[in-house]
Amino acid sequence: MQNQTTAADIHIDNYKYLQKQVYSLSGIVLDADKHYLFENRLTPIVRQMGLGSINDLCALLRATGTPEIGRKVVEAMTTNETYFFREPAQYDLIRSVLLPRLRTEKGDLKRLRFWSGASSTGQEAYTLAMILLDEGLGDWDIRILGTDFSSNVLERARTGKYQQLEVNRGLPASVLVRHFRRSGMDWQISEAARRMVRFEPIDLRRSLRALGPFDLVFLRNVLIYFDAETKKNILKEVHSTLFRGGWLFLGGAEMNFDAETWFEKQTFGSAAVYVAR
Ligand SMILES: C[S@@+](CC[C@H](N)C(=O)[O-])C[C@H]1O[C@@H](n2cnc3c(N)ncnc32)[C@H](O)[C@@H]1O
Repeated sequence: MQNQTTAADIHIDNYKYLQKQVYSLSGIVLDADKHYLFENRLTPIVRQMGLGSINDLCALLRATGTPEIGRKVVEAMTTNETYFFREPAQYDLIRSVLLPRLRTEKGDLKRLRFWSGASSTGQEAYTLAMILLDEGLGDWDIRILGTDFSSNVLERARTGKYQQLEVNRGLPASVLVRHFRRSGMDWQISEAARRMVRFEPIDLRRSLRALGPFDLVFLRNVLIYFDAETKKNILKEVHSTLFRGGWLFLGGAEMNFDAETWFEKQTFGSAAVYVAR
């Protein structure tokens, strides 16, 4: 069949070239065992561009060095998986431990700052906004920053609009009816939640200090894609964005890392939090 590319058809030099491109543009390390991903994810781009194969795409990239195509390739290779109330034990901890503490410590200024680094399509940031509203903090000066290096996901996040399948994942029905309204086939998050959240394109590998200071940072399910040195640099930068005693949540699979210089790990039941020293 024409226009079909199989893994075996991708020249080994092109695999290496694509791996390098993805690493230099995003920091994401794609090991040799991830080669099948190139085939699955780049074939739609190859077709869209009317090219014959992934080798042709690489030839075009090498010849023109077009940043837009490079970006398209990296965005296609990025995993954007996310959903509402992902890792519920962490949200329980926010409700039961962090918010009571912040009410006491910050009750005079009533100002709280949160950051969802690697926000993808926004579910993490909006989950937090809904919790804060449900906890009666709607009249506080609250800002939640959602950032990601992919402009595509941020465009979606800013709309605050989600498909039925997306709200079916993780969002309790009572929360859905309280914070969303129907919009055609989709669900639109409330203005109250949307007003708290702002989305910006930010590559986690840049200097991050100026974004803070934050009371809580989510950096979940993104460090797994980076090498040890990139992880370490990012964690050091993230530490500089947190108030002393501020909280960092990582993804479930990312809980073992060596950052004792900057964070103290505290475990509450099944959830762990990294507290900024
Ligand atoms: C699997 S999603 C995690 C979404 C959310 N944090 C969660 O846990 O549900 C990973 C996100 O990291 C983003 N990402 C990857 N490399 C990045 C980088 N260098 N800087 C900023 N974001 C990056 C991707 O675009 C993607 O949206």
